[in-house]
Amino acid sequence: MKVLVVGGGGREHALAWKLAASPKVQLVFVAPGNGGTAADARLKNLPITDIDALADFAQTEKIGLTVVGPEAPLAAGIVDRFRARKLRVFGPTKAAARLESSKAFSKAFMQRHGIPTAAYEAFTEAAAAHAHVDRVGAPIVVKADGLAAGKGVVVATTLAEAHAAIDWMLGSGGTKLDVANNEGGARVVIEEFLTGEEASFIVVADGRTVVPLATSQDHKRLNDADLGPNTGGMGAYSPAPVVTPNVHAKVMHEVILPTLAGMAADGIPYTGFLYAGLMIDAAGNPKTLEFNCRMGDPETQPIMMRLKSDLLDVLLHAADGTLDQAAELQWDRRVALGVVMAAHGYPDKPRKADVISGLPKPAEDAVVFHAGTSRLSHDLVTSGGRVLCVTALGESVKVAQQRAYEALAPIRFDGMQFRRDIGHRAIRR
Ligand code: AMP
Ligand code: GLY
Repeated sequence: MKVLVVGGGGREHALAWKLAASPKVQLVFVAPGNGGTAADARLKNLPITDIDALADFAQTEKIGLTVVGPEAPLAAGIVDRFRARKLRVFGPTKAAARLESSKAFSKAFMQRHGIPTAAYEAFTEAAAAHAHVDRVGAPIVVKADGLAAGKGVVVATTLAEAHAAIDWMLGSGGTKLDVANNEGGARVVIEEFLTGEEASFIVVADGRTVVPLATSQDHKRLNDADLGPNTGGMGAYSPAPVVTPNVHAKVMHEVILPTLAGMAADGIPYTGFLYAGLMIDAAGNPKTLEFNCRMGDPETQPIMMRLKSDLLDVLLHAADGTLDQAAELQWDRRVALGVVMAAHGYPDKPRKADVISGLPKPAEDAVVFHAGTSRLSHDLVTSGGRVLCVTALGESVKVAQQRAYEALAPIRFDGMQFRRDIGHRAIRR
C-alpha cells in the first residue's frame, strides 16, 4: 500500500518513519516533508500543500491511507474533502477539529459534558474582560480563541500582565494578535490558574472506540529549568511517570471516553488522533488544559520510537471505523527521550540556511528526526524554528537522556539552541 503523510515537521518524519516500517507499506509520500524525509529511501517528498491538489494526487497515485499531521489542514477541512471524494483519510473533520481550533468551543463542550477543566469565562468585550480579571485576581490565564501557533496563551502572574494580554488579544491599543479560524471576531477565554504536573495523553479514535497511545510529557519553555519563553516544544519523553495506572484510568473515564461520547452525542463524531493536555494535581486528579486534534510535536518522536506494533494496522482500523477489532498496541518497555535542537532566534525569529553537520548514523536506540531542515545543493541546512529532534531509548529516563545527548554531541549548526535538562522532572521523581 502507498501512504501519504501530510506535513513537514518532526512529528510527520516520525509518523512516516514508523509507517514505512510496516511490511504492508510500499512507499510513504510526505507532503511537503523536510530534509530528513528526503534522505530516507522509503520516503518520498511531495511538494504539494494545496488540499485539492493533495486529493488529486491521492486519487491518481491510489494512496491507500492519508494521515494528516498538523492542525491547520485539519481545521481547513482536509478530512471532509478527502472523504467527499471517497479517499481513505485519518484525522478529524473540520467540525471536530474545533476542539483545538476554538478554545471557546472546547471549553463550552467540556462544561456541557462534565469533563474536568479549569473554570472559565469567554469575552469579546475588553471592558468586561478587564473587570472580570479585577474581580478574580492573579494568577490567571488568558487565552486567545483560535489557532495562534502556540502564542495564544498568557499565564499571568500579575493583574498588569493579565490586562496587557487582554488588550493584545482583543486589539484595544497595542498590536493585535493574529489568530486563525476564530469565528465572529476576536474573543478571549479567561480561566482559573491550575497547579500540578502536566502530561500529554494521546489516543487514536474512530468516532466510537479509542486506543490510547503511550503517555508523554513535553517541555514548552525555551531554557533549562523551564525558564524563558514558551515554544512549540523543546523536548519530550515517554512514558510520563505522573500518569500512574490509577491516573491513567481516571483520564480514560473522566476525560477521554466522555469526550468521545459527547462529540458523538453532539453529532460530531471524533475520528483521528485526540491529544488531551492535562494538569494532574497532587491527589492524582486530571483536568484538561486543552485538546489538540492531532499528535503532539515533539511527543510523537519518542512515542513512535517506543511503538512496537504496526502503526498502519491501527490507523487503517481507525479510518474504517473498526478500531474495536484492532490488536492491542505493544510498547517497548524502555523510556524514549527526544531533545529538540532549535535554530538561532527561535521562537521569535528563527534564522534559516545555517549548514548542519555531524549527524550520527541512525541506530536501533537513537534516531534523529528532522523538522526545519532542507537540502541546499549538497548541504543540509536549517529551514525552520525547530530543526531536529534527537530521540533515544534507554532502560531508564537517565539512560535515555544520556544516550540522546551522546547522539546529539557531534551535531553542529551556527546558533543552535537546545536544552540540557530534558526529562528533569521524571529524573527527580
Ligand atoms: P494550552 O495551549 O491551553 O495548553 O496552554 C499552554 C500552556 O499554558 C500549558 O501547557 C500550560 O503550561 C499553561 N496553561 C494553560 N492553561 C493553564 C491553566 N489553566 N493553569 C495553569 N497553566 C496553564
Ligand atoms: N507539544 C505540544 C503540542 O504539540 O501542542
